Amino acid sequence: MQVLSINAGPLKPLAVQQEVIKSGFYKGACEGEVQVVKIGIEGDFRVACATDYNRAVFFYQSSYYDRWREELKRDLPYGMIGENVTFDGPDDSEFYLGDVLRIGSAVLCITQPRFPCRKLTARIQEGDDFPLRYLKSGRLGFFCNVVEEGKMSPGDPIILEHRETDPYPLTEFTRVTFLEPRDVESIRRMLACPVLVPEWKIRVERQLRRAIGAEGWSDYRPISVVGRRVESADTISLDLEGAADETLPDFIAGQFVTLRLDVPGESDPVVRTYTINGRSASGRGYSIAVKRIPEGEGNDSTMTGIGSSHVNDKVREGDTLMALPPRGLFAVEPGARPIALLSAGIGVTPMMAMLEQLATCPLSRQVYFIHGARSGREHVLDVRVRKLTDGSELLHRFVKYSQPSPEDVEGRDFDAPGRVTIADIETILPSLEADYYVCGPVGFMRDTIRGLVDRGIAKDHIRYEFFGQNEPLFEEPVAAEDADEPVMDSAGNPIMVTFARSGVSVPWPRGAFSILSLAERRGLRLMNSCRTGLCNVCVCRLDAGKVSYAVEPLESPPEGEVMICCARPTTSVMVNA
Ligand SMILES: Cc1cc2nc3c(=O)[nH]c(=O)nc-3n(C[C@H](O)[C@H](O)[C@H](O)COP(=O)(O)OP(=O)(O)OC[C@H]3O[C@@H](n4cnc5c(N)ncnc54)[C@H](O)[C@@H]3O)c2cc1C
Ligand code: FES
Repeated sequence: MQVLSINAGPLKPLAVQQEVIKSGFYKGACEGEVQVVKIGIEGDFRVACATDYNRAVFFYQSSYYDRWREELKRDLPYGMIGENVTFDGPDDSEFYLGDVLRIGSAVLCITQPRFPCRKLTARIQEGDDFPLRYLKSGRLGFFCNVVEEGKMSPGDPIILEHRETDPYPLTEFTRVTFLEPRDVESIRRMLACPVLVPEWKIRVERQLRRAIGAEGWSDYRPISVVGRRVESADTISLDLEGAADETLPDFIAGQFVTLRLDVPGESDPVVRTYTINGRSASGRGYSIAVKRIPEGEGNDSTMTGIGSSHVNDKVREGDTLMALPPRGLFAVEPGARPIALLSAGIGVTPMMAMLEQLATCPLSRQVYFIHGARSGREHVLDVRVRKLTDGSELLHRFVKYSQPSPEDVEGRDFDAPGRVTIADIETILPSLEADYYVCGPVGFMRDTIRGLVDRGIAKDHIRYEFFGQNEPLFEEPVAAEDADEPVMDSAGNPIMVTFARSGVSVPWPRGAFSILSLAERRGLRLMNSCRTGLCNVCVCRLDAGKVSYAVEPLESPPEGEVMICCARPTTSVMVNA
């Protein structure tokens, strides 16, 4: 296999479906060596997917060009299909998800086939049915993400450096997602593929729900509590399963379920999200661990956590809870770098699921599970972690206790006293060049993530999830004395936020994180759960004005609605809350 042409293109207007859009689809051959960076080929303008690292570089076979030229009876220069790399090599049927390719000094990993879009129609000018023809031809080519940045040149050999032991064929990907989308068994097999990228996992899960029709799970459904264990002084685990012995659908390690709890004394249901930390004991459902938020803990807490206290005190084996299906994008990304799972406190739950997933996948990446707990009394899920890490050459455990109790033994229960710091990470990992996953209290996340970035780790190598209020980690903090100062619009008037149902109208202050947090400062209690754009619980009607998002929502709310937990007004707004 060999690179024939490397193609890049500037941003140009492209007329498509009665509008003119900006596109990087006009690609021409690059001369000599090019630099491959995380987002693609340097000098190539990619607009639609400029933040999609899993579609960084598009590969297309020269033999496919020969067949298109024959069929279309015209010349087609390389780059016309939109590919970055035209190569001499076998058909898509001989490639698999997760194949790692070395070209020059760059290393890339196959993430998905290339599916046609309207820009291909506009560029190739072969009629509106060309995308369908392209899809049915099976001559799709594929996208890669960039595992190691480097340089490549036309003429470089393409070396297959790694293939999964039970690899998932690219042609099967296309069959299941586009050609036979209702084949439930095949969809399930695809979901089990460990190197399927999160964006596709989520799409395929939706497809599965559609394919199983009425039995699908898209809204709240009853699930049973089939097991309850005390994990520590302040945390219990619940095993949740579907009624009638059916197996609950697969989840991506790192995803959560949303529970609607009927808490006595609360007029509205209390909606809270809990990470699935593994399968239930029978393997048919999910296991969650819920830490009680005690009085005085948290940002400005003056009360005990409503949902977590209810789960700890009242929910028992045999109870039925209402739950939404697993959601969330905090998931292990494919790649070749070592992985550091960094957690503190109850932030361990996604790391537990990820560690279990990584233990079963045939990748040879080193995984460092680094966790901080207050003491052995609060330390949860450690038995499962040790089962995976003890004696393993790939999975490593390191635990610190900030306030060890007299019965905790250093070297047996924990590795060192104190909180987990960047210095620990520097000591434990052979090099800081790793993929980081971080979850825990806000202070831990802020210090860890900022510390890593200060040491030169690229932000896109660090993924994290907040369990409560999301915090803008990289924005300059607003000075305390300026926090209440109103933000002005372009006409010099204060931006006002009106909560229509509550009859409250307040200026938008510089220090507020979101419309929801402003409402809470003013004493309003509005429905919310994840507070980070994931669960849709806080979505309200937007009656007037415009917003931007401090955190990109998992799914943008439809026109006329707003996700108040992470929205900020850009003009005066009125929300129906
Ligand atoms: C994606 C996601 C996954 C989550 N996974 C888990 C999980 O696996 N296990 C788990 O126990 N929790 C998890 N949570 C947190 C959980 O959803 C609730 O926020 C938590 O149980 C508190 O709810 P509450 O009703 O008890 O507290 P509330 O009554 O909502 O809050 C009471 C006070 O506690 C503060 N507070 C709220 N949440 C926290 C927190 N996490 N830490 C410190 N103070 C807080 C608030 O500021 C408030 O002042 C997750 C949250 C998210 C967004
Ligand atoms: S509270 Fe979950 S999306 Fe806003």
